[in-house]
Amino acid sequence: MEPDVSASSAQAGPLFARMAVIGLGLIGGSLARAARESGLVGQVLAADRSEDELARGVELGVIDGYGTMEEVVSGADLVVVAVPVRATREVLEQIRPFLGPDVVLTDVGSTKGSFVAVVNEVLGGWPPRVIPGHPIAGSEKNGVSAARGDLFADHKVILTPPEDVDADALSRLTSLWQGCGATVLTMSVARHDEVLAATSHLPHLIAFSLVDTLAGEDQNMEIFRYAAGGFRDFTRIAASDPVMWHDIFLSNREAVLRVIDHFNDDLAQLRQAIDAQDGDALLRVFSRARAARHHFSKMLSGQAYVTDMSQKPVRFRLQPGGSIAGDIRVPGDKSISHRSIMLGALADGVTEVEGFLEGEDSLATLQAFRDMGVTIEGPDNGHVRIRGVGMNGLQAPRGPLYLGNSGTAMRLFTGLLAAQPFDSELTGDASLSRRPMGRVADPLRAMGAVIETGEGGTPPLRIRGGQTLSGIHYDMPVASAQVKSCLLLAGLYAEGMTSVHEPAPTRDHTERMLEGFGYHVHRDAATASVNGGGKLTAGRIDVPADISSAAFFLVAASIAEGSDLTLRHVGMNPTRTGVINILKLMGADIEVSNEREIGGEPVADLRVRSATLHGIDIPEEQVPLAIDEFPVLFVAAACAEGRTVLRGAEELRVKESDRIQVMADGLKAVGVETTVTPDGIVIDGGQTIAGGTVDSHGDHRIAMSFAVASLRATGDIQVNDCANVATSFPGFVEMARQTGIRIDAQEEQ
Ligand code: S3P
Repeated sequence: MEPDVSASSAQAGPLFARMAVIGLGLIGGSLARAARESGLVGQVLAADRSEDELARGVELGVIDGYGTMEEVVSGADLVVVAVPVRATREVLEQIRPFLGPDVVLTDVGSTKGSFVAVVNEVLGGWPPRVIPGHPIAGSEKNGVSAARGDLFADHKVILTPPEDVDADALSRLTSLWQGCGATVLTMSVARHDEVLAATSHLPHLIAFSLVDTLAGEDQNMEIFRYAAGGFRDFTRIAASDPVMWHDIFLSNREAVLRVIDHFNDDLAQLRQAIDAQDGDALLRVFSRARAARHHFSKMLSGQAYVTDMSQKPVRFRLQPGGSIAGDIRVPGDKSISHRSIMLGALADGVTEVEGFLEGEDSLATLQAFRDMGVTIEGPDNGHVRIRGVGMNGLQAPRGPLYLGNSGTAMRLFTGLLAAQPFDSELTGDASLSRRPMGRVADPLRAMGAVIETGEGGTPPLRIRGGQTLSGIHYDMPVASAQVKSCLLLAGLYAEGMTSVHEPAPTRDHTERMLEGFGYHVHRDAATASVNGGGKLTAGRIDVPADISSAAFFLVAASIAEGSDLTLRHVGMNPTRTGVINILKLMGADIEVSNEREIGGEPVADLRVRSATLHGIDIPEEQVPLAIDEFPVLFVAAACAEGRTVLRGAEELRVKESDRIQVMADGLKAVGVETTVTPDGIVIDGGQTIAGGTVDSHGDHRIAMSFAVASLRATGDIQVNDCANVATSFPGFVEMARQTGIRIDAQEEQ
């Protein structure tokens, strides 16, 4: 995170004229140094028990000078208590008579309840300028010589201000920490101590205890000698300062005891599972933990569910030319994968899913249901086992549900959660946070839901539970399967009948899967209706290969000379086959064989060979049936003879990116001119596709479309910001390379 120095640069002088640091150890010394280097403090003075440390502090340039506590505190407008927690009382008693009336007092200790208790006792209350602080940074080193000015850069600092905090004091202290490179969060004392007990104190306790246990075993030398990296990583924190940690545990006693009890119970259950040879129980816990670990790193990085914090953005490098050949099965259908988890979770019984898309979007959905207490095993090679909790069995999630890049997840969840007895909050990555949610929030409100959106109807969504929903009839203004599905899911819980009319056919996976789970959906021309109050019965779901992923290869093999490719087990639901209809109208050679129906969804094998494509006026009724395939269809249009015109596709502007503009910009970057219209685009085919650099704007389908364009390019193409390809098509690069696209994925530097 960028340090926010705006507050300080706007300010005439330094934030604080004199800062007094009591205790010049690692944290006090580092804050002194960082404050001096930031120029936000006029003078930094310190007091410490060790005169040697103070002298070293001056010598190393950490502080401007030092003195006794009385000397440094008198006249200071900021006092930082940076002594071990147990020494706080003594320090406060000593400095109390010398604290100026406007002084800001803070500390850096790891527990806040104990600090506030001492403040109350010694100062006779908690004054509005006493703002406890806790930088989440440190190292195993001690002393002023280890002080580093960058110790807090990109770290978090938690401030726990009193309710009647002095706003100016809080703002200056916040600016100082930000000037030292930190991100500042504020929370209550109780919350801080709970959070830290779980995330820091318990792990330290376990590390100390584990090393101690093993050190006491016979042959301990052997154990430590052969201990592998995992043991070393895991127990690194057992090298921390014992005195400091003894203080922390005693001062955060209650919160720590609570998490220890929780942990003990869970550990006892694992012990019991091992004793009873209950492999299923072990697998359940381990796979849930692994997924949670993975999920947290994504959530914290605020990115699509995709990249974890350590990962850099991905760039595709493409060499021009090539032809496409092979026999492939692309990953499972995204829409069906999402729905399989949702309905499976709400069903009675165990649902087995095969062919599940292990892409980041559907994994986000899977994790969200785990967060609501559903036990889900896998995914393991596309196999997922969901232990349904029944229509009323979901539990309140402990925090916001993070849905990564997935608009489908957010819109469908909103319908489902609007009817639950608990409150919930839905968040997502930067792209999802810009997408319109009013289209689901408005009709749900008409059913009685209480939903708060962010500015302009965007996420986050806060959904108030415990509402009674009533069925409505809704005439959708846009043809959206997400809106339709959202309302049908809410309708499962509503009183009476919920019916949705669509202005044009959209994908009907929800309706088909509900029927598959034994929940009748009445379908009458363009209207789908459900009666609330029924139940779902678990079953088996075979997820076909995603036609939206197959689309890249349908276009690739059509435009690249000498191509012949077979795609297996592709979902051929008539509400999804617009891409095949449009390509065929353009002259593509696509042969459909082995048509069959699996689990309520039609499936077929497709053989596609190169063909001379020609431009067409895309029939408007095909637009919703090919809504996700337009980026790659634009590439087909650029390679066709003559003009292709798309109209009635304004929805493309509110997908993961504005797909009309972003594609037009990308095509321009490789030398292809187009004309953008409010609801579509005009592309004159036959222009040379040159080399160039394209920005995908983090949109998976844009990135993959330009990988396809390289087949007909005359120079190298580079596509930036491609990590999100993993939202819908894990393994794309390998499959593209295997079939003949000259692609490499690299981390951007
Ligand atoms: C989807 C519906 C479509 C589509 C999206 C998946 C679904 O969105 O673009 O990728 O699974 O219901 P809209 O219904 O908003 O057009």
